[in-house]
Amino acid sequence: MNRQTIIAANWKMNGTLNLVNEMSNRLNQVKLADGVRVIVCPSFPYLAEMAVKLQHDNIYLGAQNVSEHEKGAYTGEVSTTMLREFAVKYVIVGHSERRNIYKETSLQVAHKVQALLAANITPILCIGESEQERMAGHTETVLAAQLQPVIDEVGIEKFNDVVIAYEPVWAIGTGKTASPEMAQETHQFIRQFLAEKDVNVANKVPLLYGGSVNAQNCEGLFAQADIDGGLLGGASLKVEEFSQICSTVKGS
Ligand code: 13P
Repeated sequence: MNRQTIIAANWKMNGTLNLVNEMSNRLNQVKLADGVRVIVCPSFPYLAEMAVKLQHDNIYLGAQNVSEHEKGAYTGEVSTTMLREFAVKYVIVGHSERRNIYKETSLQVAHKVQALLAANITPILCIGESEQERMAGHTETVLAAQLQPVIDEVGIEKFNDVVIAYEPVWAIGTGKTASPEMAQETHQFIRQFLAEKDVNVANKVPLLYGGSVNAQNCEGLFAQADIDGGLLGGASLKVEEFSQICSTVKGS
């Protein structure tokens, strides 16, 4: 099954204007394999500059969050319309940091996915279990409970326009990557869960792995049948390491 391979950079609350310049200069020169696309998601204030600086046919701009509301009295929030003005094509939603620190619920995440799809922006929907949940054998239940409200809200066929990122919370920023086999097993579950609703959609949706991915471990992870690329945090802030990962990843 030919699926798009995606390497996405989640800068989180990191980076500077200087990094925007350095990273975009470097990425503009990267040669990507056929079928590979790269998405860079800096913080909101850097989107405008990044939109001008990134000039590569297969490298896209993304954001890290969006409001589920269209406009109005929501101090501090950013709408899909605003993001579209800066050529944002992807938005990360449901990151575990948003769920855990900012108490975003799966229902709210579903509303954000809906808002993005209505604006023709592709959601990168993050799901993942905590260490306790994995230890208790609840991984699949947790992932299903994070996916189902989104499916209920937008309908399974809309997942043709969604990217899913599986990020086990215990692997984020810890250096404790899931082994390729463990990640594959969970990705397979996610694809199977979607296939029970729609096989074609399940075969098409890109499933990214995230959690301490770096230049050393990415090859083994991305070689897995159901892993279609990665969502990178720490490694995406390092110009040489990130561009090396992008230029070496194979298309599917
Ligand atoms: P790290 O790559 O730093 O573990 O972060 C992963 C992540 O949360 C990407 O969204």
